[in-house]
Amino acid sequence: MNNLRAFGILYRMELDFSLLAPEHIEAVSAIEQLSFPSPWTRTLFEREISVPISHFFIAKNNDAVVGYGGYWLVAGEASIVNLAVHPDHRGRGFGRKILLFLIDDARASSAGSVFLEVRKGNRAAQCLYASCGFEASGVRAKYYGEEDAVVMKKTL
Ligand SMILES: CC(C)(COP(=O)(O)OP(=O)(O)OC[C@H]1O[C@@H](n2cnc3c(N)ncnc32)[C@H](O)[C@@H]1OP(=O)(O)O)[C@@H](O)C(=O)NCCC(=O)NCCS
Repeated sequence: MNNLRAFGILYRMELDFSLLAPEHIEAVSAIEQLSFPSPWTRTLFEREISVPISHFFIAKNNDAVVGYGGYWLVAGEASIVNLAVHPDHRGRGFGRKILLFLIDDARASSAGSVFLEVRKGNRAAQCLYASCGFEASGVRAKYYGEEDAVVMKKTL
């Protein structure tokens, strides 16, 4: 592999993180629509900007928003409230990078553990979480209407 190609691969894989801001709402809403059967509204994303317990970040690759993730920090526990990667950019390690960024940020904010709920049928997300050290700790019946949620936890 020549140096130029190696640089190109590294460059494409790089993510720049920043706090969610009003100028990102359009891009994250578009990704959200493509990612979830019951997507968040723009208002819910706007709320994340103003809620003090929210730590919500967007991830850019080559200056384009390719994903996002956020958690709420309450009493030393971080709860991941959203995480998604644009379908065109999945399978390139971005989801794991965003998740690890959230975990590091929660640790730096003195969280002792990280929780999340994931659809029982969402194998991709469950594999991602398990690969980052999360373990299933319970089930919330009918959490998503007809579908159960698996609760997953990672102790920091
Ligand atoms: C879940 C999601 C964020 C993963 O993002 P991604 O960038 O494709 O994930 P990565 O490329 O970083 O993959 C990391 C790990 O996730 C798991 N994974 C990702 N896609 C998978 C798939 N289609 N099937 C099974 N496991 C998968 C694997 O364990 C993978 O590790 P590996 O590549 O070493 O095998 C993405 O599929 C997504 O946005 N889905 C829709 C929204 C969603 O479900 N969010 C989670 C809500 S709880």
